[in-house]
Amino acid sequence: MSAVRITLDAGAKGPRIDRNIYGHFAEHLGRCVYEGLWVGTGSKIPNVRGIRKDVVAALRKMKLPVLRWPGGCFADEYHWMDGIGPRAKRPTIVNTHWGGVTENNHFGTHEFMDLCDQVGCAPYICGNVGSGTVREMQSWVEYITFGGRSPGDKSPMADLRRRNGRKEPWKLPYFGVGNENWGCGGNMRPEYYADEYRRYQTYVRDFGGNKVFRIACGPNDGDWYWTEVLMREARDRMDGLSLHMYSLAGGWEDKGSATAFDDRGWFKLLAKGLRMEELVAGHAAIMDRFDPQKKVALVVDEWGAWYNVEPGTNPGFLYQQNTLRDALLAGVTLNIFNNHADRVRMANIAQLVNVLQAVILTEGAKMILTPTYHVFEMYSVHQDATRIPAAVECGQAGPEEARVPGVTASASVDEDGRTHVSLCNLDPNAPAAVEISLRGIAAREVAGRVLTAPAMQAHNTFAKPNAVRPAAFGGARLAEGAVRADLPPRSVVVLELI
Ligand code: AHR
Repeated sequence: MSAVRITLDAGAKGPRIDRNIYGHFAEHLGRCVYEGLWVGTGSKIPNVRGIRKDVVAALRKMKLPVLRWPGGCFADEYHWMDGIGPRAKRPTIVNTHWGGVTENNHFGTHEFMDLCDQVGCAPYICGNVGSGTVREMQSWVEYITFGGRSPGDKSPMADLRRRNGRKEPWKLPYFGVGNENWGCGGNMRPEYYADEYRRYQTYVRDFGGNKVFRIACGPNDGDWYWTEVLMREARDRMDGLSLHMYSLAGGWEDKGSATAFDDRGWFKLLAKGLRMEELVAGHAAIMDRFDPQKKVALVVDEWGAWYNVEPGTNPGFLYQQNTLRDALLAGVTLNIFNNHADRVRMANIAQLVNVLQAVILTEGAKMILTPTYHVFEMYSVHQDATRIPAAVECGQAGPEEARVPGVTASASVDEDGRTHVSLCNLDPNAPAAVEISLRGIAAREVAGRVLTAPAMQAHNTFAKPNAVRPAAFGGARLAEGAVRADLPPRSVVVLELI
């Protein structure tokens, strides 16, 4: 058993951990939107105005705070006017990016805003810079958020919205000006995109009481130069800069299997995921030079594991299983975001249902929760709580080419004074004996929950939906101002101190 020391220092607490760090992403890709979220009003699958009831209930329980839509690469090919008005009259298009399938546009702006209302989350819409116009982006924001002029005056976008059944404007708190404009969003150079960003965002207007948080397309992975140029040229016109980073167990040609892996595959994937620390710290350091007051948020609006698709499924649909290894990836990544909450103020794992590192998988009327779902639900205690610095001293685990820290952690205190500590034991074979010193925290009781399974490849299936699920954790005790916890191998544990 490895020994780990963690010091929590409540005297140095802060900042607030923005709830939006626990955000998600839903793209018109494979079975995410269609089937996963939208089944249509005529479906036998229980739904409210076409949106699945079971999925909405699960997302409410997980406390989904913010949802990014409609892409991804799809966003820079999406023309929002195709997705409004009577559904039978909406044009069909080919989703050229994802599988070449027909997109009937039945899920559009009204349906997305309805989904967010039903779930109780904030909408984050990504606009089209790659193949769209400034006017198109301007009118989309106006359509959603402009109440209209006094009766009798014409307000074309507000009038159109009313004719389509929505009288009052919606609130639109978050808007992205393009997606991956260094790649599928137009293959632009950062200097060119920075100018385009400045132009497009000018017309993303604030109407009435709505204040849009404008998010510029940020770097791919470790492209420091992109961040440098965007911060130099456009920092005063943005509220957030995005970052995309995916973790693969192999290369892009052969990304590795989601379920068939050994110890080496376990460590390789987690080592890739832990690069998020280097990326967040590196991009934040560049941002600090231009924006020492940290006004601009780093928005990690695509992250997660990307494997080969499940055998027999459409390669363009990116459908993959989700094991205990993905739960650990989620846990260590969320710990990194919590620990960098001063700069990271939103993150969106890819993607919500049936695509990449999904929290929910569906098959017809059936729905299962993945191990990653359980981590998001367990970690939801950190949403909007105040971070407490957690200094971890531990050994390393894994083979030479994929060394990882044995344990990672983050901690926070909520407004009721409860302290939560989330701990990941990355070693698939050895338990960890953790001693947590509590500086400035007077705890009387400790309780907790644990997510683990007998095998690192364990996952939930439609036949066995509860193979991996959280259980009460009895391995922690309080003694002399410290907590001692024995973490099982390959586990995620969240402790509560009151
Ligand atoms: O999430 C899948 C794709 O990955 C997105 O469409 C794109 O933005 C990224 O490259």
